[in-house]
Amino acid sequence: MTPPMLFLVLLALLSLSTCHAHKEATIRELRIAFNQNRLNSRQLVEFYLGEIKKLNPILKGVLEVNPDALYEADRADRERGANVPRSLVDLHGIPVLLKDSIATKDKLNTTSGSFALLGSIVPRDAGIVSKLRKSGAIILGKATLSEWSNFRSLSTPSGWSPRGGQGKNPYVLSATPCGSSSGPAISVAANMAAVSIGTETDGSILCPASFNSVVGIKPTVGLTSRAGVIPVSPSLDTIGPICRTVSDAVYVLETIVGFDYNDRDATKKASQYIPYGGYTQFLKADGLKGKRIGVVRNPFFVFSNGSNLHQVFENHLQTLRHEGAILIDNLEIKGITTISNATASGEAAVAIAEFKIAINAYLKSLVGSSVRSLTDIIAFNNKFSDLEKIKNFGQDIFLAAEGTNGIGDLEKAAIANMARLTREGYEKMMVENRLDAVVSPRADISPVLAIGGFPAISVPAAYDNKGVPVGICFSGLKGSEPTLIEISYGFEQATNVRKIPTFLP
Ligand SMILES: *[C@@H]1O[C@H](CO)[C@@H](O)[C@H](O)[C@H]1NC(C)=O
Ligand SMILES: *[C@@H]1O[C@H](CO)[C@@H](O)[C@H](O)[C@H]1NC(C)=O
Ligand SMILES: *[C@@H]1O[C@H](CO)[C@@H](O)[C@H](O)[C@H]1NC(C)=O
Repeated sequence: MTPPMLFLVLLALLSLSTCHAHKEATIRELRIAFNQNRLNSRQLVEFYLGEIKKLNPILKGVLEVNPDALYEADRADRERGANVPRSLVDLHGIPVLLKDSIATKDKLNTTSGSFALLGSIVPRDAGIVSKLRKSGAIILGKATLSEWSNFRSLSTPSGWSPRGGQGKNPYVLSATPCGSSSGPAISVAANMAAVSIGTETDGSILCPASFNSVVGIKPTVGLTSRAGVIPVSPSLDTIGPICRTVSDAVYVLETIVGFDYNDRDATKKASQYIPYGGYTQFLKADGLKGKRIGVVRNPFFVFSNGSNLHQVFENHLQTLRHEGAILIDNLEIKGITTISNATASGEAAVAIAEFKIAINAYLKSLVGSSVRSLTDIIAFNNKFSDLEKIKNFGQDIFLAAEGTNGIGDLEKAAIANMARLTREGYEKMMVENRLDAVVSPRADISPVLAIGGFPAISVPAAYDNKGVPVGICFSGLKGSEPTLIEISYGFEQATNVRKIPTFLP
C-alpha cells in the first residue's frame, strides 16, 4: 500500500471506531458505566478485541490476545452482579495489556519478542500480575516491544522484534514509536486497550510515553516487583503503567506496588515509600501549588532550529508558574555529560554483567524452555539467524554480556562511580535547591534516573511541526511518586494537550 492509500484506509478505520461509545474512556468513566449498568466487562473486552483486529495489522502494538479474556470478563461481570467486595476495587473488570516480557501463567506466551522463548513455560505469574489478578483486572494480552527490551544489539530498531514486527507510531506512522515498551504505548494511544504496563531500565517507559502521547510512570526501583519479568539489569529495572491519563496510570500504579516475596529485598526496602491511603489521594487539581521545580536547560531544553517546541515548552514553564509552582531556572546536574554516556558512567558495564546473571537465573527458573542460558540464546539466534534477523542487526550486546564474569572489580568500580555521580549530581542539586521535582522535555533525562533508581512521570506536552508527539518529564528523588503525581496531574489538567492519534503517513 502506498502511504496516501494507507492514510485513507486508516481514516476510514478511525471514523468507524470514533462512533463507538467506549472511545477513550478512562477507568473512572468505565467504572461509572459499570455501576449504572450501561456497560459490562464482556462488552468492553469485545470492544478492544474489535479495535485490535482493525488497527493492529498496521500498528503492531499487540503481540497476542488472551484466549481467556472474555471468560475473565464474564467472571468480573458475575462478581459485580453479586456485589463481591473486590468488585469495588478500581481495576476490577478493567482489561490490562502487558509488555511481552511480563510473565503470565496462562495461555499467553512470555517471550520478550524472541522466537527463542516461544513455548517456554513460566513457573508462575509475575509478581505484578498476581496483584492485578487479585484486584480482578482482566489480562487482555501481551504487547510488542523492542526485542529483549532493546538489549540484544545496538542496531535493532526501536519497537521491533522478530515475533512482533515493527511497531508503528499512531500519530505519524513513519516516526519511531520509541522503545522498549513500544507496544504498550502504541496500544493505549490507539485505544486498543484501556491501560497497559511496561518496564524501564533506562528510558523504556518514558521514551515511548513521550513519542505516543501517553502517560508513563517509571516508579522508584523496587516499588514494583520485578519477579517474573524477563530482566535486563536488576539494579536498574522497574515496572510501571503506560496509560492515556495520569489518573488511569495512578490507578494501575496503586494496584501493582508493594512487597513481593519473589523480589523481597528490593520490594521490602521500597515499600517504605508507599503512602498510607495510597496514591489516588494525590490526584489534586491544584497539585502544582507551592511545588519547587528545577529547570535543567543544559542539555535538555534543546530543540532543532525552526521547531515550534521552544515556544511550546516556554509556555509550559509559564503555565507551571501560573498554577502556583516555583521554578528554579538554569540549574545544572554536575557530571551530566558523563552520566549521559553509559560507557563513561559505568552503567553499560554494570548492565551487561547483571544481565548475564539475571537472564540465566530467569531461564533456569522456567518450567519448560528450549533455551536455558544466554549461551543457548546466542546459539539459537545464530542457528535461526533468518528468523531473528541476525544478519541485519547482530547480537553485539548479548556477546558483550556473554563475555562478562559476574560482579568483579570493574563492575564494583562502575557501581561506585554511578553512586558518586548520583550523589554529586542529581541528589545534590535536588537537596541544595530544596526541589520537589525536575522538569525536562522528552525522556532525555532517563540515564540520570536509571543510575539513581529514581522515579519520573511523562505527560503529553506537545506535537512537533510534523505532528510527532513530545512528552514532558517530571522526575524526583526515590519515593517521590506522591509529589510527582500532584505535579503531573496539575500539569495535565491545566494543559490537556493529548489528542487522539492522527495516523499521518
Ligand atoms: C503461544 O505460542 C504457541 C506456539 O508455541 C501458539 O500455538 C499459541 O497460540 C500462543 N499463544 C497465544 C495465546 O497466542
Ligand atoms: C539556528 O538558527 C540561527 C539563527 O537563525 C543560526 O545562527 C544557527 O546557526 C542555527 N543553528 C543550527 C544548529 O542550525
Ligand atoms: C563515552 O565515553 C567513552 C568512554 O569514556 C568514550 O570513549 C566515548 O567517546 C564517549 N562517547 C561520547 C559520545 O562522548
